[in-house]
Amino acid sequence: MVKIAPSLLSADFSCLRDSIDRVQGAEMLHLDIMDGHFVPNITFGPCVIRKIRSHTDQIFDTHLMIESPRRYIEDFVDAGSDYITVHVEAHEDVPDIERTLDLIRDTGAKTGISINPPTPWKPYRSILGQVDMVLVMTVNPGFGGQSFMHEVVPKIEEISEYIYTEELITEISVDGGVSPKTAAEVVKAGADILVAGSAIFKGDPKENMIQLRRSVDI
Ligand code: DX5
Ligand code: ZN
Repeated sequence: MVKIAPSLLSADFSCLRDSIDRVQGAEMLHLDIMDGHFVPNITFGPCVIRKIRSHTDQIFDTHLMIESPRRYIEDFVDAGSDYITVHVEAHEDVPDIERTLDLIRDTGAKTGISINPPTPWKPYRSILGQVDMVLVMTVNPGFGGQSFMHEVVPKIEEISEYIYTEELITEISVDGGVSPKTAAEVVKAGADILVAGSAIFKGDPKENMIQLRRSVDI
């Protein structure tokens, strides 16, 4: 079954607790961390995660859109993150990414790498077997509510094919513009996890999650 990861970025931050309560039926909660350098937007940090951690047992899927991610891994894990996903573009090369993944693993958290729309995936194929999740971006990261980039779908298909032929257990998560209109295409391409912000938090989150599940339940 496809998993749903609501992105808290689109929730009403004046009543986060209420927003989280409404998406307890989702398999994980996606937390977008932006530093104003790697992406042109700033969101929240470990102290917010620590606060919401005490309120729910849900799996926290932390997406670090930050420069020098190694500096902050421990802080985000201590705060309660279960998955830590870092961007390949925030690293110099594959060995540099592997150093970050080692650090994440040492903390006991699950590992993820994220790939931006213009970034090719093949240079990172040797890492795919080392991570729990590959997060394929279908918008340029930085903001919620952007349009799904259909041109990234072949990349999802290729990664999915590679994971299948290499018999890897890495899950494919897709992030950006995912909605009942685009989800079926994403799942058909091989996605295991759907990250969705505005499609879930705009309106009634419970009803929106039902609609999103229905759209892929074919
Ligand atoms: C974008 C973030 C996404 C964002 C998705 O940089 O990584 O997780 O919240 O929002 P929607 O689903 O509205 O595109
Ligand atoms: Zn994200």
